Amino acid sequence: MALPIFRTKPIAADDTCDTGLKRCLSAFDLTLLGIGAIIGTGIFVLTGIAAANQAGPAVVLSFIISGFACAFAALAYAELAAAVGGCGSAYGYSYVAFGEIVAWIIGWILLLEYSVSVAAVANGWAGYFNNALSAMGMGLPEILTKAPALGGIINLPAASIILILMGLLIIGVRQSAQLNTAMVFVKVLTIIVFVSIAAFNVDTANWHPFIPYGWFNTLPDGTTTGVLAGASLVFFAYVGFDAVSTAAEEAKDPQRDLPTGIIASLVFCTVIYIIVSGLLTGIVPYTQLGVSSPVAHALQLLGYNWASALVATGVIAGLTTVMLVLYYALTRIILSMSRDGLMSPFLSKVDPERKTPVRVIVITGLIMSLAAGLFPLGALAELVNIGTLAAFVLVCLGVIVLRIRQPNLHRPFKNPFGHLFPVLGMISCAGLMAFLPAQTWMRFTVWLCIGLIVYFTYSIRHSKLAK
Ligand code: ALA
Repeated sequence: MALPIFRTKPIAADDTCDTGLKRCLSAFDLTLLGIGAIIGTGIFVLTGIAAANQAGPAVVLSFIISGFACAFAALAYAELAAAVGGCGSAYGYSYVAFGEIVAWIIGWILLLEYSVSVAAVANGWAGYFNNALSAMGMGLPEILTKAPALGGIINLPAASIILILMGLLIIGVRQSAQLNTAMVFVKVLTIIVFVSIAAFNVDTANWHPFIPYGWFNTLPDGTTTGVLAGASLVFFAYVGFDAVSTAAEEAKDPQRDLPTGIIASLVFCTVIYIIVSGLLTGIVPYTQLGVSSPVAHALQLLGYNWASALVATGVIAGLTTVMLVLYYALTRIILSMSRDGLMSPFLSKVDPERKTPVRVIVITGLIMSLAAGLFPLGALAELVNIGTLAAFVLVCLGVIVLRIRQPNLHRPFKNPFGHLFPVLGMISCAGLMAFLPAQTWMRFTVWLCIGLIVYFTYSIRHSKLAK
């Protein structure tokens, strides 16, 4: 008999899981959900930082390299989502393909990815929000806008926005999806405004030198530069397309709509990123982009103050949708893990009236709100990236393992050219992991060790498959 840590879940268990959640999301909703999660801090903030410090105008190449890694991972997600369907995204797929311990590790990594992303994006959101308040003469005192480590008491706006989103998610998915749709349109409109202005103000001299920092260097202080280091930083901009797959239980027709939602949202965002990063470095010298609001800042430098204010407003809406979708995904992953017995059953209760998992929403909301208020989360984008990339490597491997273990499984969507795409996905995602700083690797290892302790002290005995 196989060791308990390698026990797998039958696919049928996932197909038939009736969770009490409402099936109300179409392929279009799912695509918007993806765009809602994807376009955010990455393009609006990190592009400038990566251009100024790591890649120069070649940040556009960083986006293309990262985009390729994500495309292979997205195709792997699409194949698994269509074949396995069911609950809990990469976590659910690996439970079927690899067995419990790998599923647990992926689930544990996804918890890190989504929760830290939400808290980090809340900090970026608060930065823009505080600027807007100050511009209107209603700025908050500094001690209420900074974490203790930065000399404040609490970052109140960052903590509050998460509590507001908590309320929204409790009310229901349909309402949250409607708000998401409205804000995605605002976000896209913001980008259209930027592109229309920037396209007529490019000075090609700004693109020279194109690759000022080379491809990859490690500096004496441990930080990394170059196009490839830039690629592993701006990877954050793509984080979130996988969140679409966590909505399987609320999708009307998951096997058809999930692959569409995942691939459509990723393609859309990749095109936007290439255009925006190319134009941004074309309108001002890359050395001036290392600020917290580079897109608005660049428009200001060109003298378009009204557009700069408009873009800042759009960014506030845009970052809200990122938090909303990632928060939503976080709750769905925990719900799946709890229903499988790997986490306490206390967490899997769905409110019968609202049809939302109120307990999980409240507990995670309070924790993330505290974290966002009390910790400056800048460097944690890299922690999110390493976790997400590790999950992508395992998802690509999962495609191959499942093809070998269950060759006759019905696969409504299958990657062409044999194992080529999943293998390229594993190589490119592992490569991007390698370009992250050593400190990030250490933090990630600590998180994994905590996860294994939880698994061996609780989950292994309480797993539904153990009974
Ligand atoms: N991709 C998301 C962002 O850039 C997490 O904010």
